[in-house]
Amino acid sequence: MSFQHIKWTGDELVLLDQRILPIRESYRRVKTSVEAANAIKTMVVRGAPAIGIVAAFGLVLAIKGALKRKRVLKEEFAEAYKILAGTRPTAVNLFYALERVRNVFERICDRSPEEVLFRVEKEALDILEEDVKNNRAIGKNGVRFVRSGFSILTHCNAGALATGGYGTALGVIRMAVEKGKKVHVYVDETRPFLQGARLTAWELQKEGIPCTLITDNMAGYLMAQGKVDMVIVGADRIAANGDVANKIGTYSLAVLAKQHKIPFYVAAPTSTIDMSVKSGKQIPIEERDAGEVTNLMGTRIAPHGVNVYNPAFDVTPSRFVSAIITEKGVVTSPYGAGLKKLFS
Ligand code: MRU
Repeated sequence: MSFQHIKWTGDELVLLDQRILPIRESYRRVKTSVEAANAIKTMVVRGAPAIGIVAAFGLVLAIKGALKRKRVLKEEFAEAYKILAGTRPTAVNLFYALERVRNVFERICDRSPEEVLFRVEKEALDILEEDVKNNRAIGKNGVRFVRSGFSILTHCNAGALATGGYGTALGVIRMAVEKGKKVHVYVDETRPFLQGARLTAWELQKEGIPCTLITDNMAGYLMAQGKVDMVIVGADRIAANGDVANKIGTYSLAVLAKQHKIPFYVAAPTSTIDMSVKSGKQIPIEERDAGEVTNLMGTRIAPHGVNVYNPAFDVTPSRFVSAIITEKGVVTSPYGAGLKKLFS
């Protein structure tokens, strides 16, 4: 990878500021759990697995801070956990990573402070490393769906930037390119935050993967013209019945794909699957600030006082999904049974 967007130095996190890309490659240093939570909330870092990883290191920073200031470890840890868990509600990877670190902490919190710090830091590093490994496995499992010559449509950014590295949906595309397949990617700009235009296009260009940027409302016309061979997206949370919460606009794409008989794939690690949630109806959908809709890169584009609705995600019912590609294998309908098997 030609960039390292999440770097743990042993003392602090260094994050590539995704709000400023592609204008500038600017890095932010995160030294406390509160700074980690702010980085997640304000989208310095975004993408389900990436926010989980940063939250895990946020807990490490909480322990470091408590030791430095001689505070009660358990209290500081609980406080940091609460702040980090309150940042973004939809991506279950956030809670997956926080839980993993908390489980380790609770098992050993009465041992020496050095040991607690070492074990918790190791867990965060493991989450990061496993994520990259899982993404390559997702790529390997998904590459069979990509034929040479395909034009692939993707939405938002489910690439290296959204994960520990390599990416999920973009991981499948990267793997196809690694295997010598010739592909072309249509990148949805992904209003309002423009993860497609700003991040996916940037990532693909860096890798030399041919891509064409379109605005979100162009996808249907492209499909009608026969220009799209497959759609692949990531996910923020997958319910036990296979319903998929992902970036707002994903549902419209899935419906369009079905109408045009184009396969619609979801690539995600099993840490994105939430078996405690029966269907997509139970997935909490984050609503973000109105300013993301009324302003474009700092410039006002809508009249003052206009009502705004800004849900950051939508839910695609599993009947629109051709397959869910995970590191443990590919699941197709019936999703209930298939997803359950991944965890048995
Ligand atoms: O609001 P974001 O940018 O965090 O939303 C990201 C997405 O919706 C991604 O598609 C999803 O997290 C999968 S990332 C591998």
